[in-house]
Amino acid sequence: MATPQPGIFVRGLRAQAHLEFDLRPGVTVAAIRAAFGQLQEVGLVQSAVAGFGDRLWRLLAAADAVPLGLAPLARVQGTGGDMPVHQHDAWLWLADRGPDVVFDAARLAVAALAPALTLVEDTPGFVYRDGRDLTGFIDGSENPAPDAAVAVACIADGPGAGGAFALVQRWRHNLTRFQALAQDEQERAIGRTKPDSVQLPELPANSHVARMVVATPDGELAIWRRSVPWGKATANGLQFVAFSADPQRFTAMLERMFGAAPDGVADRLLEFSTPETGALYFVPSTEALLRWVRG
Ligand code: HEM
Repeated sequence: MATPQPGIFVRGLRAQAHLEFDLRPGVTVAAIRAAFGQLQEVGLVQSAVAGFGDRLWRLLAAADAVPLGLAPLARVQGTGGDMPVHQHDAWLWLADRGPDVVFDAARLAVAALAPALTLVEDTPGFVYRDGRDLTGFIDGSENPAPDAAVAVACIADGPGAGGAFALVQRWRHNLTRFQALAQDEQERAIGRTKPDSVQLPELPANSHVARMVVATPDGELAIWRRSVPWGKATANGLQFVAFSADPQRFTAMLERMFGAAPDGVADRLLEFSTPETGALYFVPSTEALLRWVRG
């Protein structure tokens, strides 16, 4: 397999930035390549991941680097409402030990790409306590083990091998509403205990965990989640980020979340959190990325 971008798997970097961009109208492929070449020069941060929307990657990449199933994020509508889709052309995820380093890198990256791409989303993120969501629940307990993560996240062979699909979705929490619930009710909404993330023996059907466990004849669907909290006292939430070798897994989970699956049950999380953005990106292998940038 070609080499996946290493940042997909790097953990422990507490300060992050998620930047999303749109192509400037009329910009040439040569100008886009030059802008990404500049980005390479700025020597960013300990971990940087670059993803491309369907439109941009098809414009840039050789046919054998375009994976099957690459498309804009699909709309989902169900009993839980209408999930917003804001598909953009590129996504840059920067991570390092502190917000000062990430701040400088984000500004350099935006300036490097500016001739070809306009910044449309700019979301700083941070690791909260011991890897918790701002609701206080541990996020990531049921992630695959690190040695299984590459197979879950990355395309093994064929077009786009070594690359990964990424779902990037900024959720805004209503923490006041969530925190008004007693702890056992919060736990029933999530489906796990709050202090130590033990799955409840009897999962409510609308709990987040019950909605996200998707059984198939080949076993439960797996994705590699790398979400982080974002925000300040008055506006905050979760920058949801997950990787998968197959974008259909995201669709199946989002349909179960928004009550668009045959059972029509919506995820209770929707009472406390709302997605504000949502896009699907392809994160090419390091080789495919360099092949394209170097021309
Ligand atoms: C406000 C947004 C969200 C919050 C606060 C949130 C939080 C959590 C928490 C606390 C858990 C339990 C611990 C764990 O296994 O990580 C969990 C599990 C999970 N979440 Fe989310 N999540 C959110 C959105 C999503 C979305 C959009 C997806 C997929 C499209 C997703 C997929 C999953 C999966 C697959 C699991 C593991 C289920 C299992 O096998 O037990 N989550 N999430």
